[in-house]
Parts: sequence; C-alpha cells; structure tokens
Amino acid sequence: MKDAYSYPEYCDVAYGWDRSPECDFIERCAERYSGRKGDSVLDLACGTGIHLREFARRGYRAAGIDRSREMAAFVAAKAEASGLKIDCSAADMKDFPAGGVFSFAICMLDSFRYLLTDRDIAAHLGLVSASLEDGGMYFLDLWMPPSEIDIAWEDVSWSRERGGTKVDARYLQHGRTYDPADRTFEDELIFKVESPAFGSTITSRARTRMLLYGELCRIAGEEGSFEPMGKFYNFDFDEKGAYNSRHIRTNIVLKKRR
Ligand SMILES: C[S@@+](CC[C@H](N)C(=O)[O-])C[C@H]1O[C@@H](n2cnc3c(N)ncnc32)[C@H](O)[C@@H]1O
Repeated sequence: MKDAYSYPEYCDVAYGWDRSPECDFIERCAERYSGRKGDSVLDLACGTGIHLREFARRGYRAAGIDRSREMAAFVAAKAEASGLKIDCSAADMKDFPAGGVFSFAICMLDSFRYLLTDRDIAAHLGLVSASLEDGGMYFLDLWMPPSEIDIAWEDVSWSRERGGTKVDARYLQHGRTYDPADRTFEDELIFKVESPAFGSTITSRARTRMLLYGELCRIAGEEGSFEPMGKFYNFDFDEKGAYNSRHIRTNIVLKKRR
C-alpha cells in the first residue's frame, strides 16, 4: 500500500484547518527577531503547501520542498489553480539544493523530527542557512517534551470534511518503540478516507526523533550557522507551556548569524 503522504488530496483535507493564526505568529517572530517582516519564505517538508498558499496570498515569494513527489506536484497544481505563484520541488530535507536567499524559513507540524541524527540536523541547518539572508529566521514547529523523563506520548484523533471527502484521522506515537540510545521512536498516521472516488484507510508509519531543546541548541552551536532566539508554545508569546496537555506545540526561533 502507498504511504499516506502519497495521497496529498486527502492530507490536504485532514490538515486543512485554518493556518492563518500560525502564519500571523511566524510574521510576528520574523519582525521581532530579524528586525523586519521580510518578503519571501522557504518551507521545508511543506506537505500540501498550506502555509505556502497563505504566505503567497499575503504577497510573499513562496517556495518549498517535500520528499514526496506527489506532494510537490500537488502544491504546484493547487497554486496554479488558485492563481498563486509557488515553487515546489521534490527533495529531501537533508540534501536539497540550497539557495534562493529567503527572508525566513519554516518547518511545520513535526517535520523537523524526520531528521534522525545530529549529523542530519547539522547538514540540514547548513543548507537552510545557505538559503537565507543574513539575520534571517528559521522557525520550527514540533512536539518537544521538556525532558526525557516527562514524556506524554501523543494519541490524537480528529475528523475533517471538504467537498464530499471525509477523513477520520488519528496520529499516534508508539512509545514502546522508543530507543533512549538515539531518542528515536515510531509514529503513525492513520487516515480513514470516505469519498465518492475512494474509500480506504491509508497510513504512514516512520521512525522519528524526540528532540530536546538543549540538544537542538548544542547541535546548532556546533554547526555554527544559527543562534537560538527562544522557545514558545502554541503560536503565542504569552503561553507558558505547562506540559500538562498532549496537544502542546513547541515553536522555536533560530536566527542566522551575520
Ligand atoms: C506532517 S506532514 C507536514 C506537512 C506540512 N509542513 C504541514 O504543516 O501541513 C510531514 C511532511 O514531511 C514530508 N517529509 C518526510 N520526510 C521528509 C524528508 N526527509 N525531507 C523532506 N520532506 C519529508 C512528508 O512527505 C510530509 O509531506
């Protein structure tokens, strides 16, 4: 069976909640930490391009990469149908053609956790840095427990419907697969799709990393391109981030050194 990420039309329904508050917060971070709002964005592991479409509508030059060819083709087709200009190519976050000089970069909804080793993260940071203006921001959005002894494994379900297609979605983390030696574990997406053209369950199961903030700061420090500027929660400067919720999002701002 094909991986769920090979079905962008259903991912776009499942992930199709309003991302404009997330984009508002990203713009506020760019202004606060780069000193200006910027005019261009690069999205790493952009999926169906939900953030890219929102930024393109706001007037940004928008570009993204995703490992899935189907996702990249979907982003291009959807942009064209919406009258937006978005460049998207199929590439791996660890090894993509850097360049383009963007104001800021983003990596949303846990995609950064696909970088499994310190080496992969360092290689990725080097490539993102080579694609940014000096002082440009790299914004991360991911699940990140405060420590290894304070892990609340996620198991979240939601449903979304659009244009006659309904997706019952579940995202779960298989805590029993956690390996403390390299801090990786398996997570899984399960989409039960019902539409006139398709009725099946599609899944994606992959090894991902439980990255801690201190580890990210250490790797970024050793790699040298970025300075960590702060850690926030749920796209809100005022959110305290008490780790009592399974749905808390951690937002990290890195700034490219001049
Ligand atoms: C959870 S989705 C997030 C999509 C999007 N960022 C969002 O916020 O809706 C994860 C995406 O990461 C992509 N992906 C997984 N591993 C990748 C890699 N090594 N390089 C680039 N993209 C990758 C998948 O194809 C998928 O589209």
